[in-house]
Amino acid sequence: MEILKLGAILRNKLNILKKDKKIGFVPTMGALHKGHLSLIECASRNNDIVVVSIFVNPTQFNNKNDLKSYPRNFESDIDLLKKVKCDFLFLPDENEMYPDEDSKINRYDFGYLTSIMEGKFRPSHFDGVGLIVSKLFEIVKPNSAYFGQKDFQQFIIIQHLANVFMKELNVNVVRCPIVREGDGLAMSSRNVRLNDEQRVSSALISKTLFEFKEKYNEYSVNNLKTIIKDTINKDKNFDVEYVEIVTDPDMLDVKEWDSNNKIVVCVAANIGNVRLIDNVYFD
Ligand code: PAJ
Repeated sequence: MEILKLGAILRNKLNILKKDKKIGFVPTMGALHKGHLSLIECASRNNDIVVVSIFVNPTQFNNKNDLKSYPRNFESDIDLLKKVKCDFLFLPDENEMYPDEDSKINRYDFGYLTSIMEGKFRPSHFDGVGLIVSKLFEIVKPNSAYFGQKDFQQFIIIQHLANVFMKELNVNVVRCPIVREGDGLAMSSRNVRLNDEQRVSSALISKTLFEFKEKYNEYSVNNLKTIIKDTINKDKNFDVEYVEIVTDPDMLDVKEWDSNNKIVVCVAANIGNVRLIDNVYFD
């Protein structure tokens, strides 16, 4: 595995390789876990060269404390990546990605896609995600890039970025399933910040979603949102931010159950000062 800190050098190396090799790209913010590794595994199955990036992107953090306390374990991440198929690790510093104030200016308007759920509760978050992913795509120019269903809305937005705003690069954006802990908690870099009691409580999000997946059509859509919210909030550790029920891929608000649509139930909840998100298909 080669570790590179400069985009121009990585670009030159990949330009040569790209002539006869397929490049798969997995962008991350590090503190790697099995969710990230599943994306790398998928990239390695379908490409000749795997590129992983680790960059804790300041422009996507709307909360300064969240950015400060975001786990950074670069040394152990590197050890982990040496054990899997990762040919290049792109590890830029902040100056490389954002050399000046102008380089932080938002590039894209995703419209409705960023007006709901995470976009509503984390203003400007997706501007930062769109900006950094576009910069990374310009450097890596991958054949395929891999993202997790864990961040469902992020996936839809990046697909839009690739298919509409960066069409000329022809990046195939691939969605990979959510990897969960044994008790159902969706893996996340932020989970290490949960204390023991919060960690036990945290499984309640997925437990509730899977419980109601079995009997959702006994309720109206609106009642179900309330019931899911109340069930999670019964645990004193939790403060649910939203429960939304939307279609995939358009993320339209579901008003009534309709078997013609793929339906995703999305939850964001705070537990202590850790914010967790999860989603489950109700079909
Ligand atoms: P990060 O949170 O590190 O996640 C990197 C990728 O791993 C994302 O595509 C995310 O959806 C995926 N992922 C995280 N947890 C997962 C899980 N439990 N199962 C499956 N996939 C999972 O998402 C970001 O970083 C950033 O926003 C980024 C796209 C890198 C831009 O900065």
